[in-house]
Amino acid sequence: MKGRIAKLGAVVLTAAIGFTTAVSLVQAADPITERREAMKGNGAAMKAINAALENGSAADQLVKHADQINSTAMKLEALFPAGTDQPQGKDPGHTMAKPDIWQDPEKFAAEVKKFQDESAMFKTAVAGGDIGVIKAEFENLGGTCGSCHRTFRAK
Ligand code: HEC
Repeated sequence: MKGRIAKLGAVVLTAAIGFTTAVSLVQAADPITERREAMKGNGAAMKAINAALENGSAADQLVKHADQINSTAMKLEALFPAGTDQPQGKDPGHTMAKPDIWQDPEKFAAEVKKFQDESAMFKTAVAGGDIGVIKAEFENLGGTCGSCHRTFRAK
């Protein structure tokens, strides 16, 4: 009897894993939406950090935002697979990513690298807890967002 229950559990588990895989495949089928959601997450995190700094919140309030931005930075290139420069536009399912991303991949990779390095520096600053240093790194981090947008995002 015990054995049967264990087996049943395994079947349910397999079904659950199968379901998760199917869901992530559906998401992966629309990399433009996934990318735009990740960028919106960047925007929300930067806004939250800015508000916390203005309100004089403690540095530990910033940890989760710093982590989120850094983890997005580390997977950024994967959010720009080849063939996702169309259709252009602001509407849902459309993209504001300029084709230059795929035409000049080295230049794009350099922007991604700057963002990764700066988001890691910001994380370190947050962990250090010195608000002056955190504010300076926050400026630098915002600079890397703007730098990439100026070159690679349509207006
Ligand atoms: C390496 C380049 C690069 C970096 C770095 C970068 N972005 Fe972006 N971002 C883009 C591109 C390209 C788009 C357009 C994506 C699309 O429409 O497919 C974009 C779109 C956005 C959008 C609009 C999302 C939408 O569709 O509504 C926001 C908000 C945003 N980025 C915020 C940020 C913030 C904040 C940072 C820094 C913390 C950042 N980005 C860093 C390239 C970058």
